[in-house]
Amino acid sequence: MGEHLACLRGWHPALASAELGALLPKATRRPTASQRWIFVDGTTPPQRNEALRIASGLQCFLEDGFIHPWNDDEDAFLSTVEAYLIQHPVSGSVAVKPWRQEGKISDLSTSALAGKIGGIMVRAEYDIDLETPDYTLALIADGTSASIACGWMEGGGNASFGSGERRAAERPFFKPVSLDPRLARLAVNLAAGPLGTGPVVDPMTGTGGFVIEASLSGRDGMGIDIHSEMVEGARTNLTWAHGEDESPTCSIERGDATRLGDALPEDWHGSVSGFVLDPPYGRNSQGSMESQSLLKATLESSYDVASHDAGFVLILPIKPMGERPNLPVSFDEDVELLSGSWPELLLLLESCGWAPKSAHVEHVHKSLSRLILLARYVPRD
Ligand SMILES: C[S@@+](CC[C@H](N)C(=O)[O-])C[C@H]1O[C@@H](n2cnc3c(N)ncnc32)[C@H](O)[C@@H]1O
Repeated sequence: MGEHLACLRGWHPALASAELGALLPKATRRPTASQRWIFVDGTTPPQRNEALRIASGLQCFLEDGFIHPWNDDEDAFLSTVEAYLIQHPVSGSVAVKPWRQEGKISDLSTSALAGKIGGIMVRAEYDIDLETPDYTLALIADGTSASIACGWMEGGGNASFGSGERRAAERPFFKPVSLDPRLARLAVNLAAGPLGTGPVVDPMTGTGGFVIEASLSGRDGMGIDIHSEMVEGARTNLTWAHGEDESPTCSIERGDATRLGDALPEDWHGSVSGFVLDPPYGRNSQGSMESQSLLKATLESSYDVASHDAGFVLILPIKPMGERPNLPVSFDEDVELLSGSWPELLLLLESCGWAPKSAHVEHVHKSLSRLILLARYVPRD
């Protein structure tokens, strides 16, 4: 077990932190001076591997990693690294991978520092292999906290989720409503938690973005849409995402979000562990009824097929909230939804059996942001 340092990607650290909590529900999380580093305790290697494989916002773990405030005392830092290497010996070839995040620490060259750590490794008789090392020591300089994190890396350490070809616009069926895969993946994980808990349902699937992410993660899932054009298009996208093969775990069906019981297989009733909902708004995707009634009926019909620990992620357009720290939105903040009011939305969720747990804002453009709201199933007596 032991404490490991989770390193988050830069796109939205607050959401990435919420995702980490959802994927490692039993872990204790300890914040650090950098929003992108979180100590996690009480995890097993398989749990961390799964999180690394499916997370949107997790860059890597540093095994028993440490954070060193940078105070220009290079010798002190190198002695700490040397002590770490003695306490955490590995057998196999090694390399050091330096990178910077959140700006620069003045007068610090991470690559020069990495070279000096390489020297320590050579003196300790490690075999250095810069191309395909068995073990990589990460050296991350964080500008906002003026500190360095270091430790043996678990995971590839890619700075971004997916590559260019994962963009929604690359799919055969694209609409302006299609969600960015990194947000879709994060929402699925936030709603459903670790793998193996139960299927994920997207009641209004559109071009199928959530279901593609569920499927690529190996989750069971179903996307539902009332319009056959969307059903056909989302099916094409799902097959395309699997290299023109059928998804082994997910499907897209025509149905009504307000009658999920009719659309889902009977043995899923009472066992759906996560819902991800991006309801229609604006002129691009017309709903089947007025937006508030549609949302209410969808929340109710989801409740009826949900498992008792299900999560519900709702994505809604809001007016930008100006300059605010990249932190969760508190429920008493003034959030301007494009349709309906924020206090009414929170009451609506409660009245449909879903307790709001957290909310985050994502910037879209000058006049539009998105709210990503997580709610949890509340059992009724
Ligand atoms: C905003 S879009 C979803 C976009 C989606 N997240 C994506 O990445 O493409 C909303 C979808 O809800 C569908 N819809 C509207 N009313 C519905 C209902 N009652 N049941 C199921 N789907 C519905 C629309 O056809 C539309 O495709």
